[in-house]
Amino acid sequence: MNRQDFLKTLGLGAVASVTGSSLLTGCNTHDMSGMNMTPGMENMGPSVTEIPFTTPLRFPETITNTGQLTAKSVIDAILPGKNARVLGYRGGMLGPTIRVQNGSDVSLRFTNNLDEESNIHWHGLLVPAEMDGHPTQLVQAGGSFTYSFRLNQAANMAWYHPHPHEKTGKQANLGLAGMIIVETPAERALNLPSGNYELPMVIQDKRLDGNGAPTYSPSMDDVMMGYMGETIIVNGVAGAVQPVSTRMYRLRIVNGSNGRIYNLALSNNAPFWVIGSDGGLLSAPEQTTALLLSPGERADLLVDFSKVPVGTDVFLKSDTFTGASSQGGQAFNILKFAVNKAETDPFQLPAALGMVSPLSTASATKTRLFDIGIAMEGMNGMPMRGMHTIGGKTYLGSRIDETVKLGDTEIWEFDNSKGDEPHPMHLHGTFFQVLNRVGGRNTLYATEKGWKDTVLVMPGERVRIIAQFTKPGLFVFHCHNLEHEDDGMMLNFRVN
Ligand code: C2O
Ligand code: CU
Ligand code: CU
Repeated sequence: MNRQDFLKTLGLGAVASVTGSSLLTGCNTHDMSGMNMTPGMENMGPSVTEIPFTTPLRFPETITNTGQLTAKSVIDAILPGKNARVLGYRGGMLGPTIRVQNGSDVSLRFTNNLDEESNIHWHGLLVPAEMDGHPTQLVQAGGSFTYSFRLNQAANMAWYHPHPHEKTGKQANLGLAGMIIVETPAERALNLPSGNYELPMVIQDKRLDGNGAPTYSPSMDDVMMGYMGETIIVNGVAGAVQPVSTRMYRLRIVNGSNGRIYNLALSNNAPFWVIGSDGGLLSAPEQTTALLLSPGERADLLVDFSKVPVGTDVFLKSDTFTGASSQGGQAFNILKFAVNKAETDPFQLPAALGMVSPLSTASATKTRLFDIGIAMEGMNGMPMRGMHTIGGKTYLGSRIDETVKLGDTEIWEFDNSKGDEPHPMHLHGTFFQVLNRVGGRNTLYATEKGWKDTVLVMPGERVRIIAQFTKPGLFVFHCHNLEHEDDGMMLNFRVN
């Protein structure tokens, strides 16, 4: 629906169209789509289509501290046998997995061979502001930049992706993303499953054309809900199968989707252990049978196949869930584990994992409150939705929205109590702890008992986080639904 049609619907006609811009301050044309939806009856995203799980799960090549990442158009097959044009940082879609030791120096040369600006953000690495891939630190088409930094953080799984404002959703969706694994001696001492028993995976959904190529052309509804696809891929392939033995595996999962949330579960309903979150290991393993993972979040899981008879298939699936108005209605399989080999497993689940000492709320010098995703009352009682804002504002690169004193600990509250879309809120420049969630799900989940950089705020929820800001400079915080982010749901903060 365009603006003219929208105004006609409201019965305002030509007069209103003249004053329309002031009536609709802050609304972009594509935001009007929300107008023809009744709350609670909105469109769902495209339903997932499964293909046979016959393509071996692949793992991107691994590099360590140095290397070349070139954003470019490449040929790769998401569907079996269907070579298609995608984006990638090396030979195929995605980029290499960067496996690095904490304390070491990283130096990665980025070359932009796209026909538009790009950059790289290291999501989950604590790097100096000028190396963080801030949306104003762009590498023009044909240009290069060397990202270099020394790692100083806990062992975790991070990831990387482009961050040019209004183009992040497209570039990431077409294939630009990669995984990062930071290791420490303390983590190694736990003897968690490693080598063939440690499976790093990025889960994404794509909207493929008839040739198996990802397409990105968000409609008004897609901007409202996030750009969801009918094809689920893991490490770049649809219908993936991974052979496993009868033992414990470590699944390190990043949700690299633009807008889709997964409710991770196993098809045999077996419980699994959550051992880590965005910022590293939990203090102790937590057992669960389902775990919501929203865009940008990571989950470090232990899955025990030792009781599964050889010859059995177990799927990693996404179960249905409620609370996110536009998704969660469908259960689907993500990846098949073919249990094909008996093996005795010496692994002992450690009782204690990482160090998560709670930040004390008494140490907080400030509390900031951010209204997110507000459903504003429009004219004639119609809800005026679709303003993807934080604190009523959309992103402006040149404006500093919040100023934080270096070294301070603060409480930030994200208030989605009046909103009707889920928003995974992400901060650059620090990890945080989740203090509480009021409304909606009203509780904290396993991954939220560790260090986080992205937290899901469902409609109706207010979520409070606490963080210490130890990196000086300019950073952003934003919704990690990439369509919301590109629509302006992002602000700058400066630490000094
Ligand atoms: Cu993964 Cu600012 O994002
Ligand atoms: Cu980030
Ligand atoms: Cu959002």
